[in-house]
Amino acid sequence: MSYLRLEGITKCFGTFIANDNISINFEPGKIHAILGENGAGKTTLLNIISGLYQPDAGQIYLQEKPVQLDSPSTAIRLGIGMIHQHFMLVPRLTVTENIILGTSKHWRLNLRQKHQEIAALSQAYGLEVDPTVQVGNLPVGTQQRVEILKVLYRKANLLILDEPTAVLTLPEIESLIRILRQLAADGHTIIFISHKLDEVMNLCDTVTVLRRGKVVFQSVIEISTSPNHNILYRQQLAQLMVGREVTLELKKSPASRGRVVLSVQGLQVADDRGVITVRNVSFELRSGEILGIAGVDGNGQRELADAMTRLRTIKQGKIEFHGEIKVGYIPEDRQKMGLVMQFSIAQNLILKAFQKQPFCRHFLLQGEAIKNHAKSAMQLFDIRTTGEDVKVSQLSGGNQQKVVLARELAGEPMLIVAMQPTRGLDVGATEAVQRRLLAERDRGAAILYISTELEEIMTMSDRIAVMYEGEFVDILDGATATLEEVGFLMGGGGRELGVRS
Ligand SMILES: Nc1ncnc2c1ncn2[C@@H]1O[C@H](COP(=O)(O)OP(=O)(O)OP(=O)(O)O)[C@@H](O)[C@H]1O
Ligand SMILES: [Mg+2]
Repeated sequence: MSYLRLEGITKCFGTFIANDNISINFEPGKIHAILGENGAGKTTLLNIISGLYQPDAGQIYLQEKPVQLDSPSTAIRLGIGMIHQHFMLVPRLTVTENIILGTSKHWRLNLRQKHQEIAALSQAYGLEVDPTVQVGNLPVGTQQRVEILKVLYRKANLLILDEPTAVLTLPEIESLIRILRQLAADGHTIIFISHKLDEVMNLCDTVTVLRRGKVVFQSVIEISTSPNHNILYRQQLAQLMVGREVTLELKKSPASRGRVVLSVQGLQVADDRGVITVRNVSFELRSGEILGIAGVDGNGQRELADAMTRLRTIKQGKIEFHGEIKVGYIPEDRQKMGLVMQFSIAQNLILKAFQKQPFCRHFLLQGEAIKNHAKSAMQLFDIRTTGEDVKVSQLSGGNQQKVVLARELAGEPMLIVAMQPTRGLDVGATEAVQRRLLAERDRGAAILYISTELEEIMTMSDRIAVMYEGEFVDILDGATATLEEVGFLMGGGGRELGVRS
C-alpha cells in the first residue's frame, strides 16, 4: 500500500538532469526521509510532488490513482502540503493573514474569528504562536511553525518538510519531532529532508538516498539498541550520500593565539524595533583563535554579529579593530543578506570587490578576470552547477551557502564573523567548511563562530562564550568545557549560580 507513489520521475533543467528516473513508495502513516548531498535533487523532487514543477517524464500516483499535479493549488486540493526550505511567508502580514492567505475570499470580514481559529489550531498541535503578530517580526523558528500551521489549516494529509530543523533550536526540534510523530500516528504521511543523520535515524521510518539525481539506496531504517550498530549505520548513510568515505570527526590542533585583533567593551545593541538585545558584552579576540558563541537562537547573537560587521549601529560601548582589518561576514540568512539572488554566481562572488582590480579597470568590468575568479572559487568550494553564469536563485540551498563562503573567505580576512556557517550543508560540505575555517584560524585569522548547534560549537571553538538574554554569562576554555556545562549555561543556568560577575 502506498499513499504516494513516484514512478520514473525525471526532471531536467536545460541539459542538466536534476531528477533521474526516481521511483519511491511513500506508505501512509510513516515518516520518510530523503537524504542526499547538496544539489542531489531533493528540493527539486519535492517541488514536483507539490505541483511547483512538472516532471519531464514519469508518473505520480496518489492512493494508487494516477494524478497530474499541474500546479501547487492542485496539490493542495489533493491534500499535499509543502513546508519550504526558504520560507515563503509575507513579512508584512500577520500570522493569521499568512495562514489563511488564498483560502477564502472574505477573510477580512471575520479576522477576529480567524485569529481564534488559528490560536486553537496552534494549541492543538503544540505549535505556539501569537496569530496577531506580523510575521516579519518573528524569529525564524516561529516563522516555521507558521508554515506548518499553514498546511495543517489546509487539511494536508501529506506533509513535506524541506530541511525543517536547519533553523530550529534544540527544544524546537524536539517539539517538532513530537508533532511529526503525532501527525504520523494520526495517519498523515510525512516526507522529511535533513542533513542531520542522527535526527533522520531517530525520527524516520524509511530512507531514500539520492546522489546526483538518482536513487542509490532505499530501505526501512534499522536502528538498534547497540550504539555501535547505529554509528556504523550513520556512517554508511553518509557514505552513500557523498559517494566516498567521510570521517564525521574533525581533528584540530591547539590554537596559537597572537595579537589582539578586536576588543569589545560594554557593548549594547538594539534590534530593529529598538529593543536592547545585546547587553554589557565585553571580550577580546586574538589572531589565530576561534571564539565560539553558544546560545539558543534569539539571545542577541544576530545583533552582535551585525554590530561586529558594522551593519548595525551600537547603542553603547566600544568596538575596536586593531589595525586595518579586512572582515569576512557569513550572515545567518544567505538569501536576504548574503546574496543577490538574481545575479549570477560570478557576480555574487565579486560583490565586495567589483570596483577593484583585477575585476575593474578604467571603470570597466573585466569579464575574463571575473569569470576566472569564479571558476577557481567554484572549484575550491565545490560549488556544483553547470557554470559560473548560473543565477544564484537556481542553485541548491547548500550551494548558495558555498557561494557566500567563497566570497567572504577570499583574500585572507583578519576577522571572520561566521553565523551558522554550515547551515544547510551536507555532511561532506560541512566537514570541508569546518576544515577551511580551521585553516583560516591557523593562518592567523580571528574567528567569531556563532552557532546554535552545541556540538558544532564544541568542536570548533578555542574559547566558548555563552550568550543568554543578550549577555555573555561566561567565557569557557574550549579544551575543558563540557557539553553539559555549556548546555546548562545556554538555558540560563548561570544566572542562578551567580556565574556572571
Ligand atoms: N530552477 C532551476 N534552474 C536550473 N537549475 C536548477 C533549478 N533548480 C534546481 N536546479 C539545479 O538542480 C540541482 C538540484 O537542486 P536541488 O535544489 O534539488 O538540490 P538539493 O538536493 O535540494 O540540495 P540542497 O541540499 O543543497 O538543498 C542543482 O544542481 C541545482 O542547481
Ligand atoms: Mg534543497
